[in-house]
Amino acid sequence: MDDIDKVKQKIDIVDVIGSYIQLKKAGRNFKSNCPFHNEKSASFVVSPERQIWHCFGCQKGGDVFTFVQEYENIDFGEALKELALRVGIKLSAPAARTEREKKQESIYSLNHLTSQFYNYLLLSHPAGKKALDYLINERKMSIPLIKTFNLGFAPNNDALVKYLIGKKKYTEDEVLNAGLGFRRGRYVSDFFRDRIIFPIIDARGNVIAFSGRGLTPETQPKYVNTRETPVYVKGDTLYGINLARDGIKKEGKVIIVEGEFDVITSHREGITNIVAVKGTALTENQIKLLKRFANKFVFCFDTDKAGTEAQRRSIQLIEHEGITATVIIPPQGKDPDELLNENPASFKKAMKDDINVYDFIIDSAISESDKTTAEGMKSILNRTLPYITAIENEVIKEHYLKKLAEKLDVSLDSVTRQAQKSVRPESKRVAEDAVKQSSREEKFEIYLLSLILQSERPKEYLVEARTVLDGIPLSTPSYEKVLKHLEQYEQKGVNFDAQDFSSFLPSELRMAFDTASIAPISEFTNDAKLKSEIDKIARQVKQIGVKSKLKKLSSMIQEAEKEKNSEKLDEYEREFDKFSKLLN
Ligand code: UTP
Ligand code: MN
Repeated sequence: MDDIDKVKQKIDIVDVIGSYIQLKKAGRNFKSNCPFHNEKSASFVVSPERQIWHCFGCQKGGDVFTFVQEYENIDFGEALKELALRVGIKLSAPAARTEREKKQESIYSLNHLTSQFYNYLLLSHPAGKKALDYLINERKMSIPLIKTFNLGFAPNNDALVKYLIGKKKYTEDEVLNAGLGFRRGRYVSDFFRDRIIFPIIDARGNVIAFSGRGLTPETQPKYVNTRETPVYVKGDTLYGINLARDGIKKEGKVIIVEGEFDVITSHREGITNIVAVKGTALTENQIKLLKRFANKFVFCFDTDKAGTEAQRRSIQLIEHEGITATVIIPPQGKDPDELLNENPASFKKAMKDDINVYDFIIDSAISESDKTTAEGMKSILNRTLPYITAIENEVIKEHYLKKLAEKLDVSLDSVTRQAQKSVRPESKRVAEDAVKQSSREEKFEIYLLSLILQSERPKEYLVEARTVLDGIPLSTPSYEKVLKHLEQYEQKGVNFDAQDFSSFLPSELRMAFDTASIAPISEFTNDAKLKSEIDKIARQVKQIGVKSKLKKLSSMIQEAEKEKNSEKLDEYEREFDKFSKLLN
């Protein structure tokens, strides 16, 4: 038995998925809202019998490994490692590490060492004294807080490179690959110079990069960041996420701010469900990361033009993600760090007074333009309507249209008409795209198949359905084939066993069978009720089948008429008669 089988045998898919999302028992299966697309009804089903999962909304599905891969955004090897650890199975041969993985590991360990080095210089070395004074006196940091965030100091020389290469025997290439040094003629020099250092740590605790702030107002740029490396992709991570996970889960929401100091000072004031985007708009990958922990986002960006723009762009991206979002407007245009240092109570009050994102969109647009001029009015409408028209809930949409009309002193009617004209923003309608609409026939047929396959006696109910269908095959070829295989399987005379039947099926039909064996169906209190449901659905499937057959025949008849082929015409018309008698 190989590692994969060993893990598969010991692990239970319901335990694993249940540790990520809340599962509710539904008959023989478990259900939940799908974690991979935004939905209001539970189309995500897990089957303990089959050890598989499937979402009937977005059509994703698979086994326990694919779930963990999808959910944690990791590859198969990592998922295997994680699940093996869970059930206490030692993996035999550590999967050979790829070149890329080796490079990444080297950077992680270099970064870790570097963060310790800079932290030591800040806290315990004379070179770090002015930075430490600055942090404590001007930024109101404490030693424990500095330790929590592992802040550091990079002096204005090549101390780090000397330490890493001279003392720790790393190679120049390794230091360059990690973005910690740059080549200067024959030498490699320190990248960060005379700056306070913030290690950027991912959700799993790896130091993936650094940012450094100059000590004086004259230093340009104010902040520098590690360039992109094999472990650092800008926009994939958020500053502070490693320390925010528990806080976010506890509060059920995440506060998103712009800067490092906003995060650290908030922690000092007991606000720990907070992360920073580092001065940009939220990206799709950051949204994905945060959605793992909370579905309520609270933005608190600077009130300057850049901050407002970044906030608007972020809002546009999350509109269809099923996230509730609000905005904190810090008084006097200060950022959270400044406010918390001057007047923590006023910031906490602002936190309580967070407003809905749509109020923010309207208010900020109105404050930017002069609503008394035609030009200003146009600009306000352009900056608000795309957001408001995208609201899915009609009642809420109307509420904000009304609000906008009131604030602009115009009629709701004219705003509504303008809204109908205005184009929607280019926000990605991820959720909707994901939901592939299956046809009406397919829905009835998969339901019929599910009723049969999930029953106690598939054989008996199959005979029942075939009787009602009266020779009409299912129109979806794969479903019809599954039924045919079931008929053959039953001839073996063994009791129906889902696992056994699955291995009896040709592999291309397994997906259809998986779908049918976990599709959500209602529970039937007795056999008679199930039988009558099967009768009813089979009749509908038959009607649909007959209608589509008649449609085909009638176009064939037209063709034959055109061709003046009386032989064919006769045959088709007889068929047409025969099938139309089957319509009730
Ligand atoms: P801000 O200019 O608002 O800085 O940039 P700040 O957070 O208030 O910083 P302090 O309080 O003056 O120290 C917001 C964030 O944008 C990123 C940083 O992460 C910063 O915290 N930024 C800013 C850069 O990456 N580079 C820059 O040159 C400036
Ligand atoms: Mn600031």
